[in-house]
Amino acid sequence: MINTTAWNRLRYTVYAPLYDLVATKAFCKPRRMALGQVDWEPGMRVLLVGAGTGLDLPYLPHELETHLTDLTPAMVKRARERAEKARRDVECRVMDAAALEYPDEHFDVVVMHLILAVMPCPEQGLAEANRVLKPDGQLCVMDKFQPDVQPAGPSRRALNAFTSFIATDITRQATPLIQQAGFTIQRDEPVLMKGLFRALLATK
Ligand SMILES: C[S@@+](CC[C@H](N)C(=O)[O-])C[C@H]1O[C@@H](n2cnc3c(N)ncnc32)[C@H](O)[C@@H]1O
Repeated sequence: MINTTAWNRLRYTVYAPLYDLVATKAFCKPRRMALGQVDWEPGMRVLLVGAGTGLDLPYLPHELETHLTDLTPAMVKRARERAEKARRDVECRVMDAAALEYPDEHFDVVVMHLILAVMPCPEQGLAEANRVLKPDGQLCVMDKFQPDVQPAGPSRRALNAFTSFIATDITRQATPLIQQAGFTIQRDEPVLMKGLFRALLATK
């Protein structure tokens, strides 16, 4: 099964022109719910990791220092255009979530929406999120996960061979993944498709 960073960059370059058609309306409520769990304060420094075309931007408070990153230049280009159109001051950069080019303890909030199920090594993405978050920082996750109570069974694993090729892994379990990266989960809410998609807020 191909699930590599190079494959992700290639396929999201192809998906970029169509991404908003698929992901705008469907994820309105999940984005609002996930970002609504964050304890925002004016002046906070926030990092959006694997931010795609920047569909989270309309749901962020305005008085933030906002940094946005994604692996795929075509996605970052669209995110930059969205920020400019909305007259938001956002630093947009092409960057691998597995190797963030920021100092330790730099951000108040890290947002990872629909990225942990996409990147080949979500453990590394979370380790980087942990590294760049301040000691009192908040991690905001929204994604699709296998329920924590049991690992994925054979049929889900078989389906995963297909879904992870074209889009996303459906076998990852949020709680062990996030806890093993050194976070404490503070909130965990179902947000879409009977809990397949969840919004989690975690602290270091
Ligand atoms: C399903 S989209 C989610 C985009 C956005 N977060 C959203 O909520 O709409 C997945 C995004 O992850 C990006 N991506 C995949 N692997 C990545 C990596 N290793 N580092 C950073 N971004 C990555 C892709 O380019 C794509 O834009």
